[in-house]
Amino acid sequence: MLIIGEIAINNTALVTGSSGFIGFHLSSLLLSCDWTVIGLDSMTNYYDVNLKKARLAKLNENLNFQNYTGLVQNEKLLEKIFSKHKPSIVVHLAAQAGVRYSIDQPLSYVESNLIGTFQILEISRKYSPKHLLIASTSSVYGSNKEFPLNENQRTSTPMSFYAATKKSNEIMAHSYSHLFNIPTTIFRFFTVYGPWGRPDMALFKFTKNILADTPIDVYNKGNMVRDFTYVSDLVKAIFLLITKIPKKPNSRKVIFKNDSISDVAPFRVVNIGNSQPVNLLDYIKELERVLQKNAKKNFMDMQDGDIHKTHSNVSLLEALTDFSPKTTVRQGITEFVKWYKAYYV
Ligand SMILES: NC(=O)c1ccc[n+]([C@@H]2O[C@H](COP(=O)([O-])OP(=O)(O)OC[C@H]3O[C@@H](n4cnc5c(N)ncnc54)[C@H](O)[C@@H]3O)[C@@H](O)[C@H]2O)c1
Repeated sequence: MLIIGEIAINNTALVTGSSGFIGFHLSSLLLSCDWTVIGLDSMTNYYDVNLKKARLAKLNENLNFQNYTGLVQNEKLLEKIFSKHKPSIVVHLAAQAGVRYSIDQPLSYVESNLIGTFQILEISRKYSPKHLLIASTSSVYGSNKEFPLNENQRTSTPMSFYAATKKSNEIMAHSYSHLFNIPTTIFRFFTVYGPWGRPDMALFKFTKNILADTPIDVYNKGNMVRDFTYVSDLVKAIFLLITKIPKKPNSRKVIFKNDSISDVAPFRVVNIGNSQPVNLLDYIKELERVLQKNAKKNFMDMQDGDIHKTHSNVSLLEALTDFSPKTTVRQGITEFVKWYKAYYV
């Protein structure tokens, strides 16, 4: 049992998307800190299901982990999980991710992100977890040009349907937080990478192709800038935010003048990023250095729905947790390649 202010927490967390890249790392961290973790994942075939199974097998080694395979849209399954385990913390990471795929398969974003998140909100309304934490994305900043991007900027002009569903999740959650007093934190993640990473993301594809001597597709002719965030930093930030429970408007004192906290709900949005934007071509150079092999580059046009630059302002995260991500791309890529070679080569 953890006591936060006047709130008691039972050390049981539901992590949705637990067999996914970030869910796996977060669940591992929680388990290593003696939490009980209830995992829920539908093992979608958006990318190699064997990788998800391998992550799940590692989590299953810990007796404090219990897995459920199923959809977050499944109301009955959620009822079963909540009535049995009564998680005081819910970290909702399950989603159909990916900017490009949302152009071809928008319905899967409606099902997983809109309906799935709605069901998480409904069950939270019924069981009142002490803190609901939901993953959003830097993609909601669209083409904003005022860098670094902070939580109070306009986010009403998404460039992809993926971003549109994530922004919708944020505002759906705000209304539930207000109406049913559910303390809620929304994270906006900035391009996460690291061991056990996603096969649809750049670092994975680049590594695979460079090792196989096949060309890599470099979008917008390499003129892209990303705030690459190392996964261990990211899940540490999530872990620290779990105990930073947003309070109702009448019961809080101002700790940070640019806090994104809502005027009418126990609801806050927090960026989690490295705040060190890196040019895509420099990122590729680091990978070539670690692999000791040059990439054959296919210079391509910008892809529909993509954005040119991300750069996070993490002052709010720092004010809340005294922590911000610091891992350099050199360190992070080295760790990724170590894992990739051990796992695949
Ligand atoms: N990785 C990044 O760079 C990044 C950046 C911004 C935001 N995010 C968000 O972070 C979260 C986790 O992303 P990730 O990179 O770990 O992706 P991931 O695809 O590896 O993990 C998501 C997991 O959710 C599961 N899932 C999908 N739909 C589901 C459903 N309807 N019901 C139950 N399970 C379902 C999938 O099987 C998968 O294992 C997502 O919400 C994503 O949108 C990720």
